[in-house]
Amino acid sequence: MRPSSNIPVRLSQYRPSDFLIDAVYLDIRLDRTATKIVARLNIRRNPNTPSNAALMLDGDELTLLEVKLNGTLLDQEEYFAEPDRLTLHHTPQTPFTLEITTEINPSANTQLSGLYRSGSAFCTQCEAEGFRRITYFLDRPDVLAIYTTRIQADKYDAPVLLSNGNLKESGEIPETRQHYAIWHDPFPKPSYLFAVVGGDLGVLRDSFETMNGRKIDLAIYVEHGKEARADYAMDALKRSMRWDEQKYGREYDLDVFNIVAVSDFNMGAMENKGLNIFNDKYVLASPETATDHDYAGIEAVIAHEYFHNWTGNRITCRDWFQLCLKEGLTVFRDQEFSADQRSRAVERISDVRGLRLIQFPEDSGPLAHPVRPEVYHEINNFYTATVYEKGAEIIRMLRTLIGETTFRQGMDLYFNKYDGTAATIEDFISCFAESANRDLTDFSRWYHQAGTPTLSVKNEYDSAQKTLTLTLEQHTAPTPNEKEKKPFVIPILLALISEAGVKYRSE
Ligand code: SER
Ligand code: ZN
Repeated sequence: MRPSSNIPVRLSQYRPSDFLIDAVYLDIRLDRTATKIVARLNIRRNPNTPSNAALMLDGDELTLLEVKLNGTLLDQEEYFAEPDRLTLHHTPQTPFTLEITTEINPSANTQLSGLYRSGSAFCTQCEAEGFRRITYFLDRPDVLAIYTTRIQADKYDAPVLLSNGNLKESGEIPETRQHYAIWHDPFPKPSYLFAVVGGDLGVLRDSFETMNGRKIDLAIYVEHGKEARADYAMDALKRSMRWDEQKYGREYDLDVFNIVAVSDFNMGAMENKGLNIFNDKYVLASPETATDHDYAGIEAVIAHEYFHNWTGNRITCRDWFQLCLKEGLTVFRDQEFSADQRSRAVERISDVRGLRLIQFPEDSGPLAHPVRPEVYHEINNFYTATVYEKGAEIIRMLRTLIGETTFRQGMDLYFNKYDGTAATIEDFISCFAESANRDLTDFSRWYHQAGTPTLSVKNEYDSAQKTLTLTLEQHTAPTPNEKEKKPFVIPILLALISEAGVKYRSE
């Protein structure tokens, strides 16, 4: 990761981008040590933030070769290029095209962020801020663009060329060893969901028919010879696709869904639109050696990344403070999927064990932070059990509080209202406040205040009055940055069991 700057990023300082990028055309010539990228960007000023601001694009260790504005090559005095920033002081008030050519060395990229080599393949990881290691860009999640990507490479070295969206065209370059593929993703997306893969890979193919009868081509790419070990992952993918239709009415939206398993990967997996990239331990399993736990892990991660297609990709995050908007919700969805596919009780016990083992200590130690933090120095340090697992528990409590039917109505409202946008936790909660017709301001404290409350319950039974009185008290210990804790809204389910074994449950 880049050395984090000492200037903290604060949620309170969020402001929309001065510029928007509507369309991105990328031409990527894959080469092990000198990959050339031409990025043509259709840019306009943001009508909501009128200003004369300079255009400042993010970069990270980039080498700039040239810049063209509306087709004209710019002199070096007309821009200011640094490895981590490209600044243009004078850009038109009307929409314009910027064409930027950069060169990078994938073999020297040991950060595994941006474009790098894993084994004999090229692959990418752009969340959170890896796209800026490929080209200069407004590398922030609230800038949504339509991407068209042309990839060219040696046809023997990289016979498989993949990117986001649907394949539009492919072919050979006559009299050379080169071939190309053009991918187009019709759904606007932030740069962190961009992906490219090039390599000599084996493939397991299948297909899925959606609830509206559309046929989706599915493929899992693995090292040659390991295709059969992806069988279970493929099965889990098809079950995930069906579950999201049945549970949430969410249909898959592209013509293809590709998964690539690589051995060098920083995270578990990544939900790039239409091209999920996985750490291969969450794809490959042999019946001879894999345990039940391995299978459950594959199923959960395949489901998690697939479910991001709606909770994360179609609706993304306005800024990185909203990471839990996609992660907490998607963990909740994959936990529910596993509960439906396997044993609900076993799943719950395992999720709670994980929470107590990892998240509780995090929440009571020096690294305690709210599920939606307000300040960070380095976003890569916020992919935590608090954001993911506690984030999922908040949604589970919300469902308990408002009931399953109202919760589903709130989810429908969220999908309808915020599709194609970069949203916030407030946007999300407002959908449930509306579906439940209830003020959820106090409940939202779960997002803002760190710490694990301790609940004590005292029960007194008055046999003369036949009355049971429960007294509940909560206490949250101070965490390093917050001494005074306010009470949390804690939904509590009660069950009373009579001597005859009859169970009375609260709603
Ligand atoms: N966004 C990924 C995930 O949690 C992390 O890279 O699925
Ligand atoms: Zn995720």
